[in-house]
Amino acid sequence: MSTFFENQAIGEAHSKLILVGEHAVVYGKPAIAMPFPLKAKAIVHRIDGSIMLESSVYTGPISCLPDKMKGISSCINKTLEYLNHTSDGLYIKIDSAIPLGRGLGSSAAVAIACVRALAYLYGKEFTQKELFSLVHVAETYAHGNPSGIDMAAELSENPIWFQKGQETSTLNVKDNLYIVVGDTGRAGDTRTAVENVRKNYDSDPMKIKESIIEIANIAIETKAALVRGDMYLLGSLLNRNQKELMTLGVSDEGLNKLIEASKNSGALGAKLTGGGLGGCIIALAPDLAKGRIISKELIKAGAVQSWCFSTAEGILYET
Ligand code: PMV
Repeated sequence: MSTFFENQAIGEAHSKLILVGEHAVVYGKPAIAMPFPLKAKAIVHRIDGSIMLESSVYTGPISCLPDKMKGISSCINKTLEYLNHTSDGLYIKIDSAIPLGRGLGSSAAVAIACVRALAYLYGKEFTQKELFSLVHVAETYAHGNPSGIDMAAELSENPIWFQKGQETSTLNVKDNLYIVVGDTGRAGDTRTAVENVRKNYDSDPMKIKESIIEIANIAIETKAALVRGDMYLLGSLLNRNQKELMTLGVSDEGLNKLIEASKNSGALGAKLTGGGLGGCIIALAPDLAKGRIISKELIKAGAVQSWCFSTAEGILYET
């Protein structure tokens, strides 16, 4: 989404949740993700001089961005090149409600918001394909070899069925899902988590291959459970997926503690979401009332933040 007024343009993007299939998706297996309503916003206007960026972690010229944010400067430069405006002075303000490094797709959302705002500033509307390829620059920097699931989910308004190199399709979900997200407060490092899975694969290929195949089967069964609206089956599939993520070596004590707390307080199933090794968990609640209880119990168990989210109504409750 973008808006434009008086030499200033605003681009927005939402975050995402991976329901099942993270990590296996890097190996070409299918995964399911959905939009999550926390948003990133980029506000751009023309200035004299060079390109300046203002954000919660850095403010200054984009030529001096810290290493961790270099993906965003490459993405901005690539977009300006594509738009034939490389020599313009710009002030870009990032205003994001998506916590960083928590598996909610903050880096892709910030990049999408910037690309949308720049396109709008120069009177252009990018196709999904153009957006995808420009944002991919930032994601490659942040993740090394991203599957592209974050971008695909954040460019969609509906849950998606994603497989690397194949057309992404929208999923028909029969019933409203109540999902509680619990934030460990620790930033995960997706690049390291993906590298760890690769190392584990190299040292025990049989075990990791089996796990990846099991995750692919879980994704297929999850798609069927969503179409049927079978919440109990969906809960057990999340639990099965978490078991495999533990085998891959991307869960940790903090995540496991939140997962157990959510199940003990009535969740039908729970797992980490995104890269892992910190970040967030998701828990499936049978209804909103239980979702509120799970949210509170997650905070008691050490989560720094928790959101109860409904696929039909957006964020309903924030703790
Ligand atoms: O950006 P994150 O932390 O949500 O992780 C993306 C999902 C992974 O499968 C771990 C990586 C990828 O590129 O698909």
